[in-house]
Amino acid sequence: MSLRYPELENRRIIIGVTGSIASYKILELVREIVRSKGQVKVVMTRNATKFVTPHAFSTLTGNPVYVDLFPPDFSWSPLHINLSEWGEVMLVAPATANILGKAANGIADDLLSTLILSFPNPIIFAPAMNENMWKNSAVEENIRILRERGFEVIPPEKGELATGKVGEGRLPSSQTLLFWLRKCFYPENLKGLKILITAGPTREYIDDIRFISNPSSGKLGYFLAEEAILRGAEVILISGESTQPVPPGVEKIVIEKGEELEKEVKKFFSSCDVLIMNAAVTDFRPCKKMKGKIKREGKLSLELIPVPDILAELSKEKKGKLIVGFSLETEEVEKRALEKFKRKKVDIMVGCLQKEGYSGFKVENMEGVIVYSPHQKERFSLTKRELAELIMERIAERRFEK
Ligand SMILES: Cc1cc2nc3c(=O)[nH]c(=O)nc-3n(C[C@H](O)[C@H](O)[C@H](O)COP(=O)(O)O)c2cc1C
Repeated sequence: MSLRYPELENRRIIIGVTGSIASYKILELVREIVRSKGQVKVVMTRNATKFVTPHAFSTLTGNPVYVDLFPPDFSWSPLHINLSEWGEVMLVAPATANILGKAANGIADDLLSTLILSFPNPIIFAPAMNENMWKNSAVEENIRILRERGFEVIPPEKGELATGKVGEGRLPSSQTLLFWLRKCFYPENLKGLKILITAGPTREYIDDIRFISNPSSGKLGYFLAEEAILRGAEVILISGESTQPVPPGVEKIVIEKGEELEKEVKKFFSSCDVLIMNAAVTDFRPCKKMKGKIKREGKLSLELIPVPDILAELSKEKKGKLIVGFSLETEEVEKRALEKFKRKKVDIMVGCLQKEGYSGFKVENMEGVIVYSPHQKERFSLTKRELAELIMERIAERRFEK
């Protein structure tokens, strides 16, 4: 399966750059979009050109950079109208306090602000400024107005600002900005749903230092969370140890032990519409956890007991929720996934095959089967990202079947 929503390829994107010290960061963003085969036209305010030269943007995009509403070669067809007709989405980044104020108040006194008023497609603002400016009530009010009118305003991050001080007001990373651009091209077919996803490994401690676990990276679970957010869902991600970046907008809850996972899942289960149990739960735990650090003295035997099956337990009280389970198998994946589908009474069971050198925790490709009913199965051989997309697409289809 190829990605159904091919990221930014061939998309026509306008980037509005304003007079902020963070404007140099947009060079990297533009490069990323071009690398993703997107088409970019950059519109700069006059003040932005004091920070970055238009030549840099035109070299990276292969397109002219637009600054003046009345350029020297002005023709009968106004630039802001041409650009409004060309762009599928506009990202204003960095957005100064000034441009936010103009946009919120309908002021159109230069090319960018006039384009904002005439643009018929989605506009995203990514503010960046000094913390005092960000917390100024006039700026807060302008942002409230913009959001109320349906514009996306990406909250700035907390971190080191241009002055060297730490505070709120930093432009989010290029990856975050790219995420918001991609979101514009996704169908909002999970909007209104609250999705609870578990990811990563759990640990079961033998003593105060050592534990038994598995090498789950959490990757698939984080991709699932990203897919769900891109499609408009509200996402809570309960995750064991993972180095995966948290997708923007996802609420992440960190857990370590199986009992913590159980507690957090039960806490959020009643308020969610969909539960996706992707965490690689360590199925056994020591009967007794020893105190301190076990000394290296002679042989040691560990007695293990199975941990509670959270999925099977919650399926009994699902009341209209959609429940998705995962099972990693080393053989007979189809038979075992079907058996677990029936026994755990889930709506979807994803069986993944751990074949030496092919599938499993650490490799990118997954092979297996998705069970939707005893008679309806779908075999797959996909990357983790593609599998996440397929699962979310199927969840969205089920939603509309109801
Ligand atoms: C060195 C310097 C850095 C600035 N950085 C920011 C900034 O990060 N955010 C902001 O809102 N304004 C910043 N300003 C102020 C804006 O440049 C100023 O409000 C200007 O009128 C914005 O014009 P524009 O929105 O048309 O680009 C900065 C000004 C200077 C001199």
